[in-house]
Amino acid sequence: SEKILNRSVDPATQKMLGRAEELDLETAWDRYEKMLPQCGFGELGLCCRICNMGPCRISPFEDTGPQKGICGATADIIVARNLIRMIAGGAAAHSDHGRDLAHTLLLTAQGKSGGYEIKDEIKLSALAREYRIETQGRSKEDIGLDLAESVYAEFGKQEGFVQFSRRAPKKRVELWKKAGIDPRGIDREIVEIMHRTHIGVDNDPVNLILQGLKTSIADGWGGSAIATEISDVLFGTPEPVRSMVNLGVLKHEHVNIIAHGHEPVLSEMIVAAAHDPKLVEQAKACGAAGINVVGMCCTGNEISMRHGIPIAGNFLQQELAVITGAVEAMIVDVQCIMPALGDLCECFHTKFISTSPKAKFPGAIHMEFNEEHAMEIAKEIVGTAVENYANRNKGKVFIPEDTTDCMVGFSAEAIVKALGGTLDPLLDAIKSGAIKGIAGVVGCNNVKIKHDEGHVELVKELIRNNVLVTTTGCNAIAVAKAGLMLPEASAQAGEGLRGVCQALGIPPVLHMGSCVDISRILTVCAAVANALGVDISDLPVAGAAPEWMSEKAVSIGSYVVSSGIFTVLGTVPQVLGSPLVTQILTKTANDVVGAAFAVETDPIKGAGLMIAHMDAKRKALGI
Ligand code: SF4
Ligand code: FE2
Repeated sequence: SEKILNRSVDPATQKMLGRAEELDLETAWDRYEKMLPQCGFGELGLCCRICNMGPCRISPFEDTGPQKGICGATADIIVARNLIRMIAGGAAAHSDHGRDLAHTLLLTAQGKSGGYEIKDEIKLSALAREYRIETQGRSKEDIGLDLAESVYAEFGKQEGFVQFSRRAPKKRVELWKKAGIDPRGIDREIVEIMHRTHIGVDNDPVNLILQGLKTSIADGWGGSAIATEISDVLFGTPEPVRSMVNLGVLKHEHVNIIAHGHEPVLSEMIVAAAHDPKLVEQAKACGAAGINVVGMCCTGNEISMRHGIPIAGNFLQQELAVITGAVEAMIVDVQCIMPALGDLCECFHTKFISTSPKAKFPGAIHMEFNEEHAMEIAKEIVGTAVENYANRNKGKVFIPEDTTDCMVGFSAEAIVKALGGTLDPLLDAIKSGAIKGIAGVVGCNNVKIKHDEGHVELVKELIRNNVLVTTTGCNAIAVAKAGLMLPEASAQAGEGLRGVCQALGIPPVLHMGSCVDISRILTVCAAVANALGVDISDLPVAGAAPEWMSEKAVSIGSYVVSSGIFTVLGTVPQVLGSPLVTQILTKTANDVVGAAFAVETDPIKGAGLMIAHMDAKRKALGI
């Protein structure tokens, strides 16, 4: 129906939305429609609930209604406080993810973890060198222990700087110092946001936003970078591998297990446990052909990049996966997991299994995971799924056939390898104009935008204009579903980019991982800037988050801009109630960090802004 076609461009999603209608099941889209019209004060960021004299809301019209909160806070103050509290939430989420990886490395180096090992010794040594940890003649466990203690200490550090931020060009670090936004310990900056936004503390919108940027840098170059790098040490640095995406990766004759959420600590063990011969035998004894583990959201990105495991879908497809009636277990850890899954799973045989002490859900069975007994617990969880196969009602199964092949796993290291060992071929292609520039297109899905359309249309327009696209998160999954993550997709690229892709055998869109792996994009940008002897803000690069929704995305956008990269947002942030804050984000930021945000809900126009920005940067560089 018209309604369904307006909700998503993805054929599998359209079919499942039809199925949901048939079964009279509610999804996020239905709940969004019931929510309309959304609160006008909230949309503009003008509602304050920070103290109990409130809630206060500021009238967007100067001549009617209150212009100040009860404490005297203006629209500018309220909007700035609300915005940087979102940054605190997002930075906390990414950084806690990083902390969990540091913890897993610590336990592994101490010989206390249940099934993990240090897999990538090259990465381990490279990181150890950054921290000036002695590597000569030492065991990987000894080096790993020192590294784990060093990265663990970044979170609670009181003074000094976050080590990985020193990958940024010198000019960038100097600029951060000058602006007072070079972060100290990661947790310290997050706490300082919470302090400053308490009633009666920081009431200068500019000063508030600077603290927001500082905290976001602690996320991108700190917490997220730690999550990425330590994941590589423990599970291996991704290399190009073939995979598949979309709901059609669920199988009729197999026990289907979806690993959904964000941290690879759990999903790596689920993948390993699913290979256990006893469990496979048990699955066969239950009448299944085998065990089929697939991923969802960033967990999907993590395990597909490292093992080629298929991805069932992105954020807005999580409910639809359950509605297939073919999922024995939806296993979740943290972040972007809809609490709606509980009620929905009750309409099917699907077991909704939560695993993190930090994230419990109504209607979920809690099987708590810990690193010490990781393998044991993972087997228990997989066993629960296998047993549940007998409860599947085959009459209720509806799996859309759609799947798309893709090539994933382009870590920074893999990109250099694909280029033949140095960045030179990439630099030459940029200088010659074969590649106009590099874009990082990332972020969530959002019911406010037709599902996947923002992602796919923006990326298609970029590659048509010879922009090499790097991607992570739900954008990566959307673009993979659209078939753009295959070497053959270079046929859709402009002539220059097509030639480069064909020569190297790479897709025009490079899958760099999960949301925390945007740190990989920063690492590549830093390496390119350093090779050219310029700052990141001088490069023909741009970012976009066409369908963003989470607080994590606010932190991401902020650290990308703070790193000197112009960024286009495809959904409107809740800041328009303050012309001052809007002005800072879209204009004044240029004077402070050499980059700013733009908001453009039309993906083609959004791509146009990015391309124009790249053209201007190329001109300034004289290329
Ligand atoms: Fe109202 Fe000020 Fe309290 Fe916010 S902090 S709720 S604006 S009195
Ligand atoms: Fe994510």
